[in-house]
Amino acid sequence: MQPIKLAIVVGSVRAGRIGPTVAAWVRGIAAARDTIEVVDVDVADFELPNTLVPNDDTERFTRTIGACDAFVFVTPEYNHGVPGSLKTALDTVKYEWRAKPVGFVSYGGLGGGVRATEQLRQITAELHMVSVRDAVSLHRVRKRFDNEGGIDDAAAVDALGRLLDQVEWWADAVAGARERIDYPG
Ligand SMILES: Cc1cc2nc3c(=O)[nH]c(=O)nc-3n(C[C@H](O)[C@H](O)[C@H](O)COP(=O)(O)O)c2cc1C
Repeated sequence: MQPIKLAIVVGSVRAGRIGPTVAAWVRGIAAARDTIEVVDVDVADFELPNTLVPNDDTERFTRTIGACDAFVFVTPEYNHGVPGSLKTALDTVKYEWRAKPVGFVSYGGLGGGVRATEQLRQITAELHMVSVRDAVSLHRVRKRFDNEGGIDDAAAVDALGRLLDQVEWWADAVAGARERIDYPG
């Protein structure tokens, strides 16, 4: 079987952000599977205007998303919500998200970003995506990583493994379904 193309999407663009550190940890675990080909997608690498007026970068972003089979969104929580940069990225693309699975790795202060994840479940349902049940939540994120970018937290590693298992299962299921019949959306 071909490995699935799994995009690990960094949702924050803030100066001094920790998002890439969290994404690198996810990447290390996902890329160790020979069933997964990781595609790194950093929202900060694209000029995505919140006017939603198309430009070269919105088209490049849309093509990038279209080439992927599944997603892990790595998201902080800002004021109990999804960062605006990730919401704009989600709003920029329409058909290319559809009928594809997504899992959530959130992080934050005391809350661990769980409210951002629950908002993303609503948003991704509207985009015809399949969100998987298991999620990772990292509270007090700035204190979690060692110098090598690892996390000494067996529960988080276990949750990420289950998230990836579920994303892979759905990616396989919907890929087969898409071959048989166009998605009715
Ligand atoms: C504007 C802003 C709002 C925040 N609101 C929350 C919050 O509601 N809940 C939480 O757990 N952490 C909150 N934090 C803490 C962030 O989750 C934490 O700083 C995290 O590192 C931000 O991700 P980033 O570094 O990738 O931008 C907030 C941080 C900022 C900058």
